Amino acid sequence: MRTQVAIVGGGPSGLLLGQLLHKAGIDAVIVERVSGDYVLGRIRAGILEQVSIDLMDEAGVGARMHKEGLVHEGIEMLFGGERHRVDLNKLTGGKNVMVYGQTELTRDLMEARSAAGLPTVYEAQNVRVHEFDSTHPYVTYEKNGKSERIDCDFIAGCDGFHGVCRASAPRSAIKEYEKVYPFGWLGLLADTPPVNHELIYVNSPRGFALCSQRSATRSRYYLQVPLTDKVEEWTDDAFWQELKLRLDDKGRRDLVTGPSIEKSIAPLRSFVTEPLRFGRMFLAGDAGHIVPPTGAKGLNLAATDVKFLHDAIVEFYKDKSEAGIDDYSRKCLGRIWRAERFSWWFTQLMHRFPHDEAITSKFQNAELDYLMNSESGLKTIAENYVGLPLDFGASKR
Ligand code: APR
Ligand code: PHB
Repeated sequence: MRTQVAIVGGGPSGLLLGQLLHKAGIDAVIVERVSGDYVLGRIRAGILEQVSIDLMDEAGVGARMHKEGLVHEGIEMLFGGERHRVDLNKLTGGKNVMVYGQTELTRDLMEARSAAGLPTVYEAQNVRVHEFDSTHPYVTYEKNGKSERIDCDFIAGCDGFHGVCRASAPRSAIKEYEKVYPFGWLGLLADTPPVNHELIYVNSPRGFALCSQRSATRSRYYLQVPLTDKVEEWTDDAFWQELKLRLDDKGRRDLVTGPSIEKSIAPLRSFVTEPLRFGRMFLAGDAGHIVPPTGAKGLNLAATDVKFLHDAIVEFYKDKSEAGIDDYSRKCLGRIWRAERFSWWFTQLMHRFPHDEAITSKFQNAELDYLMNSESGLKTIAENYVGLPLDFGASKR
């Protein structure tokens, strides 16, 4: 088989890239290790920045998102037993975020892809990338006991943190930066109305908690838990009880509990690969970087990588220029490091760390108190949370 762009991985990054390339008249094949249902079964964050909303529209798949997504103009922060609102809209001159689950976004992209008859190989085994340091790279895989080969001009490594693309880059050409946090997030999804109309980020003496949502009737909650905890050990009752202990009186009163639909524990990690380009192979999304979920930046960073990669590939074919692909890593990494910094900072501000001295939570509370009472402090949180502009800092370079 021959195509212009072989996309390894059919998560949100690979699917969005495929859709945008299709709009630009560029052929792509997606090769995915697992089944479509398995991809849709993963529950992940659900906050879209405006840039991600715009990209879904550009890809022609924004209709359901606009109908069902919930526009949020603010978030709440709970610490020292009191809530404080960050008015995202007012502090950023009219910017908001949208609550729309990654599962739904992925479903919209998958449906558009199959409606357009675009090729996706699911359950491809033993996927390998070859000769990406030349102008004739190719991808091989096995399916139904047969070996297959896709010849292409470019390989897009959209295969997540555990994928094959980053692992295939020469070790001498790659530098990886990593921080693993000493706790995880236990998430619970339930068909209960959310405790609050906006998200609540909680710093409590018992650890971090987050009250999020998927719709007016579906809630998503998280608790900071030790990495040694097993999800099977957490009954629904134990989860609700612990969440109540981390909330304020109003939260305890308003919380509606019910049976969980899903429960899982996710580790927290900050991780960046430099560079993101190896000849004719590019890394995008979780294949190149991971953020802890505290700032909800993962999906949004993936979307902007995809935008920059799409623009660079279109420039290559339409203008016969390699300037875009040459600049891909630099362009992405500026934005990635800013989001990595925010996610790391927000994580250390909101969580209990093992062996913390009593003074550490006093410092956290004092910092939160300062931020919530300072116009510039509030602005700093708001402008990072809604997402810095794509050209942020460009004029100073
Ligand atoms: N061959 C083919 N596909 C692979 C391989 C492989 N060797 N290894 C992994 N994959 C597939 C995975 O099965 C998965 O479907 O690549 C896909 C990668 O998808 P994600 O992990 O969702 O990564 P990405 O598409 O970059 O999405 C980023 O996911 O973790 C969140 O916060 C993150 O929201 C962000 C989003
Ligand atoms: C979620 O809804 O899953 C979610 C929201 C905000 C975050 C992280 C996760 O910061």
